[in-house]
Formats: sequence, structure tokens, C-alpha cells
Amino acid sequence: MINIAILGFGTVGSGVAEVLTTNGALIDQRVNQPVSLKYILDLRDFPDSPYAQHFIKDFSIIENDPEVDIVVETIGGATVALDYTTRALKAGKSVVTSNKELVATHGYDLLQLAREHGANYLFEASVGGGIPILRPLTSCLAANQLTQITGILNGTTNYILTRMIRAGLTFEQALKEAQDNGYAERDPSADVDGHDACRKICILAALAFGQHVYPEQVPTQGIRQITLADVAYADSCGCKIKLLGRAIRQEDGKICAFVAPHLLYGENPLAGVEDVFNAIAVNGNAIGDVMFYGQGAGKLPTASAVVADVIDLAKDLKHSRRNQWGPGSPDLVVSSDILSSRWYVRVNTTLSRARELFGDLQPLARGGAPAGEIAFLTGPMTEPQVREKLSGLSVGSLLRVLD
Ligand code: HSE
Repeated sequence: MINIAILGFGTVGSGVAEVLTTNGALIDQRVNQPVSLKYILDLRDFPDSPYAQHFIKDFSIIENDPEVDIVVETIGGATVALDYTTRALKAGKSVVTSNKELVATHGYDLLQLAREHGANYLFEASVGGGIPILRPLTSCLAANQLTQITGILNGTTNYILTRMIRAGLTFEQALKEAQDNGYAERDPSADVDGHDACRKICILAALAFGQHVYPEQVPTQGIRQITLADVAYADSCGCKIKLLGRAIRQEDGKICAFVAPHLLYGENPLAGVEDVFNAIAVNGNAIGDVMFYGQGAGKLPTASAVVADVIDLAKDLKHSRRNQWGPGSPDLVVSSDILSSRWYVRVNTTLSRARELFGDLQPLARGGAPAGEIAFLTGPMTEPQVREKLSGLSVGSLLRVLD
């Protein structure tokens, strides 16, 4: 018998309980022994829950119960969750989580701790919700030198941008819908300001390139400043605006990683990824391009990935999994200033002045543009170059175009 304890009965934790129950017979069969939910830790009371008899409030009960084999941490954040994860691993219990903040900030230390105590720390659900991405990255693509990862990594912002594009909703209206659907983080700024995508690209980069990439090393821009005007200009040139997390391995092994909204041409497969769906495009030197696609947020898709990790562990608790990486270093991540690309510019000036500054450019048009506003696509250049040309002008929007 394998016993499970769930920490936190929020959207994901309750989804894990539901999947463990609904698919219980199938899970037992796949593991070849019963997998039983023993405890649910939450400070709140759930007297009417079908799991009411499992609820406890004191973590030390789990920590000190030798029958608990696997702890599922779905509390989120990096304070209480860090304390409980550390204590569970020190007690020799394996931990499964969907907590990208904890993995992105403390993953290296927690993986070390797991190894020292003969346990495992698995976090498939921390990136891409229900999409199988982390295990394929380290197993199925293990023969490759991975070179580049480009991902739509946040379901909430993709939902917001899709609703702005498709339904003409404002940013605020679309965010409210995403929150009502249970996609958003408790603090939606983690979604809309790009921090959630940043944590996920850190985890992907660490697994792909073998060194911890810390969130504070990754310049991060969200989507608050994107307007319906930008959406319309992008549409006029066959583009969609998407928030991308990117990690590009340099020849010298350094990593260029950043999060920013981009314009994507319609023919790019990532441009067709809509609503709460996520997609992660990976390039490797043997496989070329491969893309992973699926529901990036939501109760059951995320629980699906958590329970898959539980099943993997339950089949062989003591075997050490291949999800280790190095400690990283302060100079590992290099600035995206080195990357040349085309740029989308919305600015208050005249087209002739823009042509003087940029030479060859592609003007864009939209209905209802106010006098003085122009928009265009530049030729390839770096961000410092484009910013220098625009200095002194009133810039409404500046977005990179994905090549
Ligand atoms: N708030 C996150 C998202 C949840 O919208 O993608 C999944 O990590």
C-alpha cells in the first residue's frame, strides 16, 4: 500500500484528490498495489467534503507518520511550502508538486536534499499544467543538445490575449473571465506581469541546459501594456500577440532567457495556440523542432500531471529520478540585448520621420487610429539599436517579432 498526503486543498489539491478517487482502480492496477489518500492538510474546515475524514491541520502528523510515502504539495508560494517540502524530504518522503515558484527559486537545493535522503522531488505539473513536457525533455529528448525553448507558458495571459483578439474585450474584462474560470494565480499580477511564465522558463532552462536559472536573472515583461490598438495593428500584418518565455543556449554555454510579449506570424504554430492552452516549442540538434501542446492551467489538467508523478513514484519509490541540475551561477544568463529581430513599433510621429530613422520599414494601419499615431515593423536589429532610434519620441508600444 502506498499512502499519500496532500498539502493544500485549493484548485489543484482538490483536483488531485478527485483524480486519485475517480481513477483509483486504474491507478492501483498501474502501480500494482493500492494507492491510498491518507491525509489532506489545510487550515480551513471542509465538513461537507467527501474527504472530510482525511483533513488535518498539523503537518507534523504527516512528517512523523512512517506510513506516508508521498507528499503532494499544492500549497503554492515559497514560504510554508518550502518549510513543509524540506521537512518531508528530510523525513525521507518523496514530494510531488505543481508549485513552480518553489521549484524555480529553490529547486536545486530541494533536489539535493531529496537525493541526500533517498527521496525524489518531482514537478511535472509545475510547467504547462497537464502537458507532458518535463519528463519528455529529460528522457525522450535526452540524445539532443537542446538549443532553444520558446513557450506560451501562462494560460491566463493567453486566455486574456485570445479574448482581446477574438472578442474585442478589454484587458480588465478578459482578466475577470480568466479569474472566474479558475485559471489565474491568487495574485493575478503573477500572471499578467509575467512572473509565472518566468518561473516556468527557469525550470525548463534548468532541465534543458543543466544549470539552475533563477527568476531574478530573467528579464520579465508582462501584458498589461498591450492595447486593442496593438492587437489590431498586429492583425493587419497577419500576426498575433503572445506572451513568450524564451531560453536560448549560446555557443559558449551561457543562456539568454527572458519573458516578453511578441508578435508571431500566423504561420508559426505557436500563433494558433489559443485560450488557456499552452505550447512549448523545443529545438534540439538531432530532433530539430518539436512542440508540446495542451491545457496549461485548470484543476483536472494540472491534477493529471501531479497524479502521473505520484504513479511514477509509487511504482518504484527508492529509484532516483533523472531530474537533477547544477547550482547555476551569477553570469550564466546573458542579456536579450544580443538578439537581433524585427520590431513592432507604435509611436506618435510621422511616417516620414520614422523612415528617416529606420530606413526600410513596413507601415501598418488600423481603423480609428488617432491623428499622429503610426505603427510599423522594423528590419532586424537589437533592442538597444531600436531604442536609440526611438529616443525622444513618445513610444506607445515596442514588441519583438518572433522570427
Ligand atoms: N496561473 C497559471 C496559468 C496556472 O494561468 O498558467 C498554471 O500554472
